[in-house]
Amino acid sequence: MIIAIDGPAGAGKGTIAKLLAEKLNYAYLDTGLIYRAVASKWMHQQSVAAADIAAALTPEDMDAEGLRTPAVAEAASKIASIPRVREALLVFQRHFAQHPPSGKKGAVLDGRDIGTVICPDAPHKFFLTATPEIRAERRFKELQATGDPTPFATVLAAVKERDDRDSNRATAPLKPAADAIIIDTSTKSIEAVLAEVLENL
Ligand code: DC
Repeated sequence: MIIAIDGPAGAGKGTIAKLLAEKLNYAYLDTGLIYRAVASKWMHQQSVAAADIAAALTPEDMDAEGLRTPAVAEAASKIASIPRVREALLVFQRHFAQHPPSGKKGAVLDGRDIGTVICPDAPHKFFLTATPEIRAERRFKELQATGDPTPFATVLAAVKERDDRDSNRATAPLKPAADAIIIDTSTKSIEAVLAEVLENL
């Protein structure tokens, strides 16, 4: 059983995917974290091709510090447009979905291209979205909670820039699969979105 949850940054897909996996006792894979891990390593050794870093990535790399920062998010979005990077990461993601670890009966994957490219045959696909302003507001509050002083306007501009790059790249752009259920989370609580997802399984 595979559940694909795609959408732009700040739509709530990570929160929902994690809760869903807990509730169903499925394995959970945050695929954005994989791109962030590649980006973070690449930021420290720019002489190495991002695709080579992707090919040599280990699970431990996903535990690196600082993967959630805006700078790493931006770099992740950039290296994610390189076809060879995506190719190198595809096998791992597909294998996780088809053979969830720890003998779990299913997997929940969240990202940008799970329903369209990684798991096109997934029986359940969701695309979560929300207005850029609301998604930026969520990110802004998260940053404030960590003491990061980045102003709202800067966060909003970064959200829009990342949307634009993720949606307009040639390989595996951010878009809903034809058979995905689209949920606008702009004015919905986490509980309401989770309930809507569960109703549609
Ligand atoms: O979900 P996130 O914000 O952690 O993702 C960081 C970047 O990684 C995102 O801007 C684009 C890229 N990404 C991707 O291209 N495909 C995925 N399945 C997940 C993330």
